[in-house]
Amino acid sequence: MSQNRPRISLIVGSTRPVRIGRQLTDATAAVFADTVDADIQVLDLAEINLPLLDEPLMASMNQYSQEHTVAWAKQISESDAVVFVTPQYNAGYPAALKNAIDYLYAEWKGRPAAIISYGAHGGGAAAKQLREVLEFIGLDLVPGHGAFTIERTDYTPAWGLVDADAVVARYLPEVQKIAGELMQKIAADEDEQAA
Ligand SMILES: Cc1cc2nc3c(=O)[nH]c(=O)nc-3n(C[C@H](O)[C@H](O)[C@H](O)COP(=O)(O)O)c2cc1C
Repeated sequence: MSQNRPRISLIVGSTRPVRIGRQLTDATAAVFADTVDADIQVLDLAEINLPLLDEPLMASMNQYSQEHTVAWAKQISESDAVVFVTPQYNAGYPAALKNAIDYLYAEWKGRPAAIISYGAHGGGAAAKQLREVLEFIGLDLVPGHGAFTIERTDYTPAWGLVDADAVVARYLPEVQKIAGELMQKIAADEDEQAA
């Protein structure tokens, strides 16, 4: 899993053709890159384009039959930590994100992780649901979390963000805290493996 330089992957949880998730994740990734000495990558579920779960066996049986599953598993295995950036849809998180989570099992277990939610009121209901699922699987969630409130004035008329960096800058301490906590967990895992 680990390289010389740790890798933190930020997962874009929304896949709509018109969305703010990618802009927000890119802006968050830029703060991570400025905060910690790690390789920061964005994993965009819209680009990864997983079909609805089509593996015959449960992920926990660890016998993947589809190339897209193997490729997705590799991307997560090669990440020392993951950050789920999720919008709130009807008091939950997107189906595409749940689908991507359900594809894998061992790759998630024990992996340092964090949740950043967003919505008209910070997306707390989505984060709560997601936390329950990630804890059930056994990811190692950091205490810090992000909850970005997106104001109507943050949107362009075409429903993009006017300035994603400015939105994320409103939550700079929270984002920096998450980045720092993930690095601590990665270091602790490396110490444990070396012992
Ligand atoms: C299906 C759907 C349901 C939504 N439900 C909520 C909601 O429960 N709470 C909320 O604050 N915003 C809700 N919104 C508004 C989203 O926060 C807003 O559209 C945001 O831009 C979604 O992220 P995305 O653009 O990355 O998909 C909803 C949007 C969609 C598309």
